[in-house]
This record gives sequence, structure tokens and C-alpha cells, in this order.
Amino acid sequence: MPLYTVDFAADPRGFFRRWRAEFGALVPVELAPGVAATLVVGHAEALKILHSPEVFSPDPDGWQRRTGAGCPVGAMLGSGPTPARTSGTDHARFRGAHTAVLGRVDQHAVQAGVERTAVDLINQFWARGEAELRTQFAAPLALAAVNALVGVPEELVDEVARAVPALAEAGDAGVAGRRTLESVLQEVVVWKTTAPSADVVSWLLAHDSGLLEAEVVAQLVLIYEMAVESTIGLITNAVASMLTDDRMDAALGGSLSTRDVLDAVLFDNPPLAQWCVRYPQVPQLIGNVWLPAHQPVVIGLGACHRDPAVAQGDRRGNRSHLGFGAGTHACPASGLAILIATAALDQLMDAVPDMRLAADLVWRASPFHRCVTALPVRFAPPRPLPY
Ligand code: HEM
Repeated sequence: MPLYTVDFAADPRGFFRRWRAEFGALVPVELAPGVAATLVVGHAEALKILHSPEVFSPDPDGWQRRTGAGCPVGAMLGSGPTPARTSGTDHARFRGAHTAVLGRVDQHAVQAGVERTAVDLINQFWARGEAELRTQFAAPLALAAVNALVGVPEELVDEVARAVPALAEAGDAGVAGRRTLESVLQEVVVWKTTAPSADVVSWLLAHDSGLLEAEVVAQLVLIYEMAVESTIGLITNAVASMLTDDRMDAALGGSLSTRDVLDAVLFDNPPLAQWCVRYPQVPQLIGNVWLPAHQPVVIGLGACHRDPAVAQGDRRGNRSHLGFGAGTHACPASGLAILIATAALDQLMDAVPDMRLAADLVWRASPFHRCVTALPVRFAPPRPLPY
């Protein structure tokens, strides 16, 4: 069952329904042509896997040795010295560094920075009465927010912007973009070694886990990988839902808070839709299915929310979604991601409350991300926002 096709991207829910009926909770899938994996669409099975990191490890080494260098999704899933691809004491060391530096982030400054960026971006398109909100709003906003957190000097911002989109690409483009990003971030690290300031790079360099420079670069690449495309997806999926889903549309009339909208999107249409990739260290029996050792097991985060075994219907105020993962590897920056997306959406909805979709949505073919390729909207030109 291929996860990388435009057909799957156009109607994942239909596929999940059919696959659940045919296979149950564990679906044999391909992440790219010839790259076998298991997609977990059962909620209980997903939690069991995510809460057993010693049995279902995030370390892809054994799989990578088998697939070799040419695997199209090898760069996106590749091993490295980060919390996302290690377990046990290594995971504790890397994760400890992430949670410590994220704990030092000034949330008021992040919110003010996102609001300023949002106003700048909105003021560039408001007068035209139309915009493409992925490239003209969500993507530059998410990147600017992460650059500010990380502490990228103005001189290197353009180079980072050129490399980051490739992180979500399979194949050679992804490999090349990742290499470019590593080398720019290496420059940022050298810069901050001599001129530290209040930012994630400087705090990682000074953290008592004693990260080597190469390890700091690896943490930074992980942050860009986890943060940028997901935040773009969260913002655009929220706007798309508000413009196409009657229940969400009510949010424009004020009956749902922005936070409620974001949680509903993290249930219905999570931006990292198939993720939390794990590798059984030895063959594992779940239900009546044997999962082979060292073959990817991918959690269908959105699919699990549609498992008939878990409560459906109105989930207002319910934040028990898997949109940020679960267990020891759950996103350490979920609060920050919500803060960024909320500030962005509030500015956008204040400025252009009467948006309409200008064309049908096209969802990007990706085994992992759920995101529109473009979000074209029309609206009556309002007045520019003051700072
Ligand atoms: C809407 C935005 C975001 C979404 C949907 C998201 C989602 C996730 C998910 C599902 C995981 C679990 C991965 C797994 O179990 O294998 C995760 C882990 C992680 N996320 Fe996020 N994330 C977002 C934003 C961010 C941001 C803004 C940062 C950093 C500034 C970040 C940093 C991380 C890190 C470092 C991990 C690895 C944690 C570990 O393995 O212990 N994420 N994220």
C-alpha cells in the first residue's frame, strides 16, 4: 500500500478506512517504491509501541545497513546523534539538552517576534485582496520564528532559507539540502562560539551535557527538520479547515478559540501525519501480526484518531491527540509550536477575517507530511495593521 502517491494524499481517510477493513490495526505499506514498512492505524497498538522504546527503538542503524545509501527516504529517517534517533542514556543526554535550552526561551519575545513577522507579511499582500498563504505567510513565518530561536545571524538567513525546504523532500534533493544546511549551521556554531548570545545555539554550546560541535549541528538540523514543515502544516491545515469545514468555520464567528482549532487540526489533520518511526530490535508479535526486526514501523497519527475504538465526535477541549507524539520521544516543543501557530493565526484572522478559498486544495504527496502544496485565498482588502 503506497504512502507516497498523489492518490493517497488526495484521500488518506478513504484509504485508512479500506485498509483498516482489510488489514486491521497494522497495514503493510511502502514509504517509497520498494521501501517496506508497517503503518499503525490502531490507537491502542500505537500507544503500546510508543511507550516501549527499548523494544521499538527509534534507532534506524539495523535498517540502514540493509537498505544502503540509495534509499529515497534514507536521509529523512537516517541515524544521528540526536534524541530522535537514540534511546537509553544517549537519548537522555540529547533530550536533556533540548529541554534545557527550550526552557530558557523567552515566550513573550517569541510571541512578539511572530506577531511582528505576521504583520510584515500580511502588509505585503493585504492590498491585493488575494494571497497564497503557504509561500506568502506560513512558510516565511515558520522559518523566521525558528531562525530567531536558533539565533541565525542575518548574514546567513538566506542560505538557511534555501536549504530548509529540502529537508521534507525524499531522494537526492533531500540529501543535498541537508548537507547545505549542515554546513551553514556549522558556520552559525563557529560564529556563536566566539560571540554567544541568548539563543539556542549558544545555550546548546554551553550546556553541561558537553555536546561536541558536530553534535550541536545535529541538534540544530533536527530542530529545523521537526519544527519548520510541521509548523507550516499546522498553520495552513488550520486555515484550510476553517475555510472548508463547517464545524471549523464557526471559529471565524468566534465559537472556537484558536487553541481549540489547533487541537482539532492536530486530531483531524495533523501536519506530521505518519511519523514516530520505530524499529523492532527482534521480531515482535502485535495482535496476530509479526513485525519484522529492523523494518520501519510508522505511526499513523491522524489514522489512529479515526480508530473506531477511540471516542469520536465533538472533541472540543480535548488535547489527548497524538499530533505531538507520545512517550519518551514526544515533542519537547509542543507548547512553543502552539504559541507560534496561535500568534500567527490570530494576526491573520484579525487582518483578513473574510477569506475564501480561491482554488481547490492540492495535498502534497508525502509518506510523512500532511500539507497543502498551496493555499490560495481571496478577501476584501482591509486596512494595514499598525505595530
Ligand atoms: C507544529 C509543530 C510541531 C509538530 C507537529 C511536532 C511534532 C513532533 C512529533 C510527533 C514528535 C515525536 C517524534 C517521535 O516520536 O519520533 C516530535 C519530536 C521532536 N520535536 Fe516536535 N513538532 C513540532 C514543532 C517542534 C518545534 C518548534 C521544535 C523545536 C524548536 C521541535 C523539536 C522536536 C524535537 C527535538 C523532537 C525529538 C524529541 C525526542 O526524540 O526525544 N518540534 N515533534
